[in-house]
Amino acid sequence: MTVSKVSLLMGALILVAAGSSPIAAAEDREPGDDTFKSVVDDDCDGERCIAVFRGLFDFVDRRLHGLKGNGRACADCHMPSDSFQLSPANVEARFQALQTRRLRNEHADDPLFRPIDANDYRINGDSASDFSNLRENALIRITFPLPSNMRLIDPVTNLPSSETSVDVWRMVPTINNVKLTGPDGINPWARGPNTSGGYQLDGRFATLQEQALAALTVHAEIHVAPPHGMLDDLSAFQNVLFSSPGVRALSNAVSAGVTPLPDADPPLNGVEQAGKVIFTRACGQCHGGPGQSTPQAPAVRYHDISTQCPRPVDTGHSPPRFEFKTCPQSLARNVRTYLITLPNGLTLPDGTNTIRRTSSDPGRALLTGFVGVGPPASDDWNKFDVPSLRGIGKTAPYFHNNSAATLEEVLTHYTAFFKRVQANVPINGKLPPAISTDGVHADRPPAPEEIAALLAYLRKL
Ligand code: HEC
Ligand code: HEC
Repeated sequence: MTVSKVSLLMGALILVAAGSSPIAAAEDREPGDDTFKSVVDDDCDGERCIAVFRGLFDFVDRRLHGLKGNGRACADCHMPSDSFQLSPANVEARFQALQTRRLRNEHADDPLFRPIDANDYRINGDSASDFSNLRENALIRITFPLPSNMRLIDPVTNLPSSETSVDVWRMVPTINNVKLTGPDGINPWARGPNTSGGYQLDGRFATLQEQALAALTVHAEIHVAPPHGMLDDLSAFQNVLFSSPGVRALSNAVSAGVTPLPDADPPLNGVEQAGKVIFTRACGQCHGGPGQSTPQAPAVRYHDISTQCPRPVDTGHSPPRFEFKTCPQSLARNVRTYLITLPNGLTLPDGTNTIRRTSSDPGRALLTGFVGVGPPASDDWNKFDVPSLRGIGKTAPYFHNNSAATLEEVLTHYTAFFKRVQANVPINGKLPPAISTDGVHADRPPAPEEIAALLAYLRKL
């Protein structure tokens, strides 16, 4: 797609975001100006432009004609004005604006605030009104059926409850660069679904169509199946969204099979260039490949980087060898304890076959129930897919639970993470690839004096 077509598309998007119609804008053009027509018939970064346009309209459409949804559009959460993600500041601004509008009109509405995403939905159903997970942290409820070997512990009785599903709370990721971050067929994990990565923070969906159907069902609560082609159109639209011209060019080169691939970075000054070298060494083993989302062997596919609550504490060591920021109550309240029966008929050395584990979001363990077998790194507990970092300067806050407000906080978290990995190495074992190139020296983590340069580079991604 040429630059003019990209800007035309973006222009259309801005018109939609501002509440006017690009169709009307097209109709207002001089006779003979067929810019829009040529776009429609053309190829847009490997997608049919007409499908991209239709996908754009579907993405921002709150009415979803005939699907009997709850008034939500994709764009209500993936806000076009906020790099297609959702930040706590925008949620709160929308919440306050809604209260003001309601003073004059009791029917004023913002479909972001639907009962399904209220904290008290399980208790109060359609009259639920406590939106603090949304307002404080921009987190959305995601519900999983419990795997057959996992049960929840009732916090009041400390006994297994009769619940058959669990709610976890996740941030809204940007949909920029999704063309580059889906399954890539490389470096497979031992268990599915999607051993080589997928969509969602846990990689559970293989295609954007599958993902969109789930979003329409769960977030927009549609009651009628979407019409033929709508999921393909949504996918086409998302596949042409990139965080920068450099990433777009990189993606097009990947599609065309060009080697070597172009560098997606903008021009870098000396400090940023130094930061890039540190990034490649310290972060690239997990955030690798063109999408920055492909772990490079021997680093494994899915990782637990201790972002869940509660965070590990180095008890028994004074001073502690690593120290994570404690979760604030607004995140700690989402923690649950699970009773897990070991998979495959396995037992612990003492003959029992159950363990208890606590987490605000066990990640892929909710897809497989594969927990407690082998050393911690090899099961699915707390494991997430590795996200892309392209455009990261514009998508604060960070991590699946929005627990790091800034990139500085992200690096403070990683400092503790790398120290913990080093502290937990088995007595005669090798250092893991997350911190070591040779299994002997912890030569990957950034040194304190390297942080400023690394930050400068991260802001350029
Ligand atoms: C209520 C808010 C909300 C709405 C509405 C919503 N999403 Fe999402 N979206 C999320 C959240 C939260 C996640 C992360 C969920 C997870 O990982 O389990 C997500 C994840 C995604 C992802 C995965 C991105 C990646 O990098 O893997 C895509 C793609 C996506 N949404 C597209 C859509 C589309 C298309 C629609 C409309 C049909 C939509 N979303 C509607 C909240 C929303
Ligand atoms: C051991 C693998 C691993 C290493 C090494 C690693 N990351 Fe990550 N990174 C992950 C995983 C997994 C996630 C998702 C965790 C989550 O969302 O809670 C993540 C998430 C992130 C996020 C949040 C992205 C978002 O959109 O919210 C940032 C920022 C980030 N990493 C930066 C870095 C930087 C900078 C380094 C190097 C200092 C680094 N990572 C090293 C695995 C890794």
